[in-house]
Amino acid sequence: MTAARPSKRHHRVIIHFDYDCFYASVFEAENPALKSVPLAVQQKQIIVTCNYEARRCGLRKLQLINEARKIVPDLVIVLGEDLTRFRDASKALYKFLESFTWSGKVERLGFDEVFMDVTDIIDFNQSLLNPNDLTNSFFQLKKNDPTVGFAFDSTKIAGHSFPNVPETQPPILETIIPIDDHESLSTRLILGSHLAQHLRWSLEEQMGYTSTVGISTNKLLSKLVGNLNKPKGQTTLLPPYVLDKEDAESNVTKFIDSHDIGKIPGIGFKMSQKIRNHVLSRPADFEMGLIYGGTKESVTVRDVRLFPSMGPELLEKLLGGVGSERGIGGKAWGLINGIDDTEVQQAKKVPTQISIEDSYIRLETMPQVIKELRILAASLIKRMHIDLLEDDDDDDSPAKRWIAHPKTLRLSTRPRPPLNSDGTRTRSFNRISRSCPLPNFVFNLRDGFDAIVEKLVQEILIPMFRKLHPYPSGWNLSLVNVCVTNMVETASEDGKGGGRDIGRMFKKQEEVLKEWKVEDRDVPPDPILEAAAESHDSISTDPSAGNEVVDSIMAGSEEVIATQISEEPVEWEDDEDEDENREMCHECGATMPAFAMAAHERFHSLEA
Ligand code: TTP
Ligand code: MG
Repeated sequence: MTAARPSKRHHRVIIHFDYDCFYASVFEAENPALKSVPLAVQQKQIIVTCNYEARRCGLRKLQLINEARKIVPDLVIVLGEDLTRFRDASKALYKFLESFTWSGKVERLGFDEVFMDVTDIIDFNQSLLNPNDLTNSFFQLKKNDPTVGFAFDSTKIAGHSFPNVPETQPPILETIIPIDDHESLSTRLILGSHLAQHLRWSLEEQMGYTSTVGISTNKLLSKLVGNLNKPKGQTTLLPPYVLDKEDAESNVTKFIDSHDIGKIPGIGFKMSQKIRNHVLSRPADFEMGLIYGGTKESVTVRDVRLFPSMGPELLEKLLGGVGSERGIGGKAWGLINGIDDTEVQQAKKVPTQISIEDSYIRLETMPQVIKELRILAASLIKRMHIDLLEDDDDDDSPAKRWIAHPKTLRLSTRPRPPLNSDGTRTRSFNRISRSCPLPNFVFNLRDGFDAIVEKLVQEILIPMFRKLHPYPSGWNLSLVNVCVTNMVETASEDGKGGGRDIGRMFKKQEEVLKEWKVEDRDVPPDPILEAAAESHDSISTDPSAGNEVVDSIMAGSEEVIATQISEEPVEWEDDEDEDENREMCHECGATMPAFAMAAHERFHSLEA
């Protein structure tokens, strides 16, 4: 079947997965008896999630434990502060989904969301359709094997759709008003919906996890549309996506218009407040109504889109300025109109960094610090073994081999600012850090695990900590992070490991260094850089004080000194380890992703 390709903006097919009540499902997968009881996962005094059995009894995410117990006295509560099991489950599910892709474009967002770009699979299967027998189609999951796949009816969407198409209606292809490329786009989305259903069912049958799925042509729309049928459901956003008549409404507009502006991914909490204030011509009633990114006096996407003079320029004025992303006005305007051209990132075999951290109510004595460094170092080495070791097929060598060697070790802390004169404390997200080359003994697989951890703590981390905090006390730390970064992939016999492939190695190195402006060593030496070069350490100054981050990177045997001006050290933006973006609530001590903090604090204010 030959069909014109849809417009460039809508040529992709993107599937978004959100696992249902993820942390609770991880416990249920370990112990299936938990599936039939109301189950809540506790971190500090908060329920971070609960299963749908518990939700049917009236419980919800981010509820206080005491409150939940009152509502459901026989609630089963499990502790979810150790994230290892969630991280491992998340990786296993991601690998499972990745195995279905042809392009490798599969991207994890946090622990429980995955985007898949399946455009190439859809292109191929669209070309296989027989227009004379669409109801008896076969979806091929492997290009070179026509027997692997499933039978399906390519005239009907699988699962739910927006707008809803009742079962009784004629096949979907006849129900949609024809426009430009719509026929091709609807066929592609029908194909996408069947593939999504197959993946969703496979995930449930083979891995034991249910998920909620959205199918559309970009990340924004597929993520949002999936929310319509939770849990264990899937929704496809139907065409038309683009209309030739200005006054008509596309399904994209119809769908996105009803959302509160705070619910649009990419328009963060602060941005949505600024937009709200402008549209309302006064500060939005924030204390009263804000729950989980929304507000009782909701300002919808439609309110914003149709507001007089609204457009990229006005949004740039509202949202732009120091510290904002370049072209933020245009980007936000695109999102409001359902446009999101960002790519689904290719799966990475080797993470950019491995980082382990914990947050503390109060950490202020050296024995406490040493104890915590030992715990963090043990987790770090364990993580390195999981993520960077693989079985070696070569009989002559040991059973495991390192697929990459991180070259740099970094220790970061976050000291709390002193109390203000009125007894309050300003919240600080500023970290300070030191880096040094990662010692080789860490890669030794023969010495005992505990001995390596102890050596790392005593010989490297404690001295680094002392340099970072030269005063013996008075630091009041709220967070400690240890991280290995600057990965260099290792050679393998088959050349796949990357080390033999010199081109790839240089590309990797280029990627690592691309953000850095390399200082010319012929210019008069900067005393700070000189000091860093001598000690092979790096110093990250407080970004708020001078906005300067200085770091040193070992590139091969040559040391490169680089400076970078930024609000936050760039490497911390990497989402490889989600712990980096976690914050602790000063009220109850719960830790959670930074995105959840505002909602969580609102939750406390609602309690009062
Ligand atoms: P969510 O996707 O928000 O929740 P969920 O998967 O549990 O439930 P749903 O079926 O509604 O999708 O978050 C994913 C996991 O992240 C969740 O299982 C627990 C964790 N989490 C926190 O640690 N802190 C938080 O504040 C929130 C909201 C979630
Ligand atoms: Mg979820």
